[in-house]
Amino acid sequence: MRKAGIWGVGRALPERVLTNADLERMVDTSDEWITTRTGIKERRIAASNDTAADLASEAAKAALADADVTADEIDMIIVATVTPDMPFPATSCLVQAQLGAQNSAAFDLSAGCSGFIYALAMAASCIESGLSRRVLVIGVDILSRITDWSDRTTCVLFGDGAGACVVGPVSRGGILATYMGADGTGGDKLYVPTAYFRYSPSEGTRPAKKHHIYMAGNEVFKFAVRIMGDASLEVLRRAGLSSEDIALFIPHQANIRIIDAAAKRLGLSSEHVFVNVHKYGNTSAASIGIALSEAVDQGRVNPGDRLVLVGFGAGLTWGAVALEWTGIKERDLA
Ligand code: COA
Repeated sequence: MRKAGIWGVGRALPERVLTNADLERMVDTSDEWITTRTGIKERRIAASNDTAADLASEAAKAALADADVTADEIDMIIVATVTPDMPFPATSCLVQAQLGAQNSAAFDLSAGCSGFIYALAMAASCIESGLSRRVLVIGVDILSRITDWSDRTTCVLFGDGAGACVVGPVSRGGILATYMGADGTGGDKLYVPTAYFRYSPSEGTRPAKKHHIYMAGNEVFKFAVRIMGDASLEVLRRAGLSSEDIALFIPHQANIRIIDAAAKRLGLSSEHVFVNVHKYGNTSAASIGIALSEAVDQGRVNPGDRLVLVGFGAGLTWGAVALEWTGIKERDLA
């Protein structure tokens, strides 16, 4: 079977920074509470004229340049998002137009903050099966548009951004194993009530207070702590690896306490764990892609390194990918 690997990575973050001090002026909170409970110091907020497709396209262009692949070589675009610009067309189609990737199929995928992992797993199977040769995976979310800025229990947690990667065939290494799961009975733990077609026009398209994030924070926390460890161990088992093989662990950046608990369960010391939650908060489907792109730029990922990426999110969903980082030599251009 053909192997799939990551050829290039990219990210896009809005310029506007919202600090904990800014939030202290908006709701009854404190930098001390936010820092100790979550590890977050600041997050990025999209400008009012930024769209999810804009951020996704910017991250995608960076990933294409990093991979040395042109837009017309891409034959599949998968955008993971819970904040698409419109019900339809899919955000991936808007991205396709912005990139000029006219030879590509395009679809969106909704798996909450696990979306990047789900999309990467789909991309790998598209390459492995021979369906596709160059797949663009993008996680993007503008959660600031669905955040209730008067609710201190949620508004301190989230931020906006996009992360992307180009997936292509590799001669060795690459994506070693994937694992995805879901528990729809936990759907009521983290949700936005207004679905595009859920309410009839007579009820109004955006009934008051129905277009914001609702979250049972403590229950999501307990689920996250359990599932991040479980999913990582399961993907390691599938890859025939153990946690000592992990050069870098790149978890979904939701809360430093959740990251620390997962790292502890795997017995990983801090140099093997990538953290940027203090700068961006929880950017949902974008988080793991942004983290991977930063880790590469910081020289923390080298050919031959084994990585585990793991996420959890609304659904409830979870997923993990074990991979061996490949260099230019391992790209299969045939
Ligand atoms: N500032 C100050 N106080 C706050 C606050 C804020 N921003 N948010 C909540 N509080 C208060 C609560 O009202 C509560 O007060 P009370 O005891 O008087 O009722 C107290 O702080 C403790 O709240 P609690 O919810 O028990 O805190 P916690 O330790 O569970 O931390 C979260 C809250 C949200 C940080 C934590 O539960 C979490 O990270 N959950 C997972 C969320 C997540 O990752 N969601 C995205 C999934 S992809």
